[in-house]
Amino acid sequence: MAEAMIQALLSKKLVDPKNVTVSEPRQKRREELQQKHGVNVAAKNPEAARSCKIIVLSVKPQDLSSVLAELKGLLQRGQMVISIVAGAKIGTISEGLAHNAVVRVMPNTPAQISEGISVWTATPDVNQDQLNQTRTILQALGKEIYMNDEKFLDMATAVSGTGPTYVLLVMEAMIDAAVHLGFPRHIAYELVTETMRGSIIFAVKSGKHPAELRNMVTSPGGTSAAALYELEKGSLRTVISKAIWAAYERSKSLGEERHASMRS
Ligand SMILES: NC(=O)c1ccc[n+]([C@@H]2O[C@H](COP(=O)([O-])OP(=O)(O)OC[C@H]3O[C@@H](n4cnc5c(N)ncnc54)[C@H](OP(=O)(O)O)[C@@H]3O)[C@@H](O)[C@H]2O)c1
Repeated sequence: MAEAMIQALLSKKLVDPKNVTVSEPRQKRREELQQKHGVNVAAKNPEAARSCKIIVLSVKPQDLSSVLAELKGLLQRGQMVISIVAGAKIGTISEGLAHNAVVRVMPNTPAQISEGISVWTATPDVNQDQLNQTRTILQALGKEIYMNDEKFLDMATAVSGTGPTYVLLVMEAMIDAAVHLGFPRHIAYELVTETMRGSIIFAVKSGKHPAELRNMVTSPGGTSAAALYELEKGSLRTVISKAIWAAYERSKSLGEERHASMRS
């Protein structure tokens, strides 16, 4: 995700590579990133963080506590931390760093091709310039939505952060069904992905509610009606609702667990 962010910022010329420093523990990867993007590299987090105005935390959640411990007390007023670490609460990060200017973001996987949607929030210590800088960085990854309460981050984790998983599973199920009918797999793939892509663009461009568009193509006694009957009988809506709720509950409990483990 950090590399996607760097790539997007550099390709849109929003930052000069010489103003970017990547902290990366593996030497081979450091060299690779330096060669590919022309950025500065550092082997240690404090070395990278000391001189930067914006520090992006993009490690796996299990590596976060050691990174916070390395940086604790080092950051100065005027520096801002942007965390994209899933489930890491603002309190965990600001306590762990002893620093109050923190932005928490929930991006999603399509950010890797600048087609993501990020939901974010910030502490009151993040000033207007820093809010604008955050918005610019996140817009390089796709769309962004600011929410004024951290509680929306767990909700966003369940809807948009985890969302690509649900879409990909539906995609996979439709491809398998098309193969079951008799289509060769590559044709099944194209039929399904183009149908999904076209339907989404159609829905967004029409500005209409999905139910309205769906009703337009559901003729009495027709194929859509027959398929919808089976989808409703199989409780598709309930299953989706339960899945998103389960992801929400899991996001909240992971955040609590991490916060508790950092304090112990
Ligand atoms: N991928 C997504 O779509 C997505 C969506 C939402 C949120 N997120 C969040 O984004 C964060 C990054 O995810 P990712 O998928 O990009 O993970 P990733 O590919 O594993 O990237 C993590 C990076 O951190 C480096 N690293 C490990 N330990 C470190 C340390 N102590 N100090 C500095 N760097 C260290 C790793 O280096 P090595 O390669 O050398 O191990 C790796 O380059 C995660 O917290 C995840 O929850 C990701």
